[in-house]
Amino acid sequence: MTPTGTGMTPDWLQRPLTTRPLLLDLFCCQGGAAAGYAAAGFEVIGVDLAPQPRYPYRFVQADALTYLGDLLTTGAIGAFAAVHASPPCQRKTRCQKIQGREHPALIGPARELLQQTGLPWVIENVVPDGPDDDPLIDPIRLCGAMFGLHTYRHRLFEASFPITAPGHPPHTAPTVKMGRPIRPGDWYHAVGNFSNVPYVRADLGVPWMSRDGLRECIPPAYTEHIGQQAAAAARSRPSTALWAA
Ligand SMILES: C[S@@+](CC[C@H](N)C(=O)[O-])C[C@H]1O[C@@H](n2cnc3c(N)ncnc32)[C@H](O)[C@@H]1O
Repeated sequence: MTPTGTGMTPDWLQRPLTTRPLLLDLFCCQGGAAAGYAAAGFEVIGVDLAPQPRYPYRFVQADALTYLGDLLTTGAIGAFAAVHASPPCQRKTRCQKIQGREHPALIGPARELLQQTGLPWVIENVVPDGPDDDPLIDPIRLCGAMFGLHTYRHRLFEASFPITAPGHPPHTAPTVKMGRPIRPGDWYHAVGNFSNVPYVRADLGVPWMSRDGLRECIPPAYTEHIGQQAAAAARSRPSTALWAA
């Protein structure tokens, strides 16, 4: 593992070079977003504060914004074609506010650093359920119904390049109520201590994840969709034109 802080030697610099464009996956958790970017053609490197033994790609345990700052300072950010960030969403959810827990505002600071990279970048977050003092700017909204999933799981995406969302189908399917068993074919909310982890893993396409990972996971279908647009943006940059083939 690479330690947090300046002066580190990223371990991925010592690995064989890849012909796929590199994407930095900040706040990576167990790799839902990562899997979609990999499907869109990126080689992915994840960063998370917590150990993530289930993350299926190269992984660095570090504070995400410190790590990104270090990459900017050292110039190592130049090895990347794009960056994704999924700051924790607890600040935006009502139950955490009721419990009076303080969570840092990370979207604004992340955006400031991402803008300095000069790369195509994406910030993802939940739809806030109240006033939002750390908002995404002009995000698009993705929904599981757009991708044939059995969950609505709305997520917002802000990007440094133009992005579009598929048409949003109406929410007509009834969803299993919290605490009730989830059966194959059901529409579900994977929140709390939800049942039928194997079914949710298969539906989202993340067979390696624990229940904790599934609760946090961006469906890979979402980031495959975003990743195709990020790849086009990366290819259009003069310094990454080599990947156009
Ligand atoms: C919403 S989850 C990310 C979900 C992930 N993108 C996915 O699709 O599976 C947020 C993650 O941020 C991590 N995290 C929280 N604070 C962090 C920090 N300062 N630096 C790096 N990771 C952090 C948490 O450990 C958690 O795994």
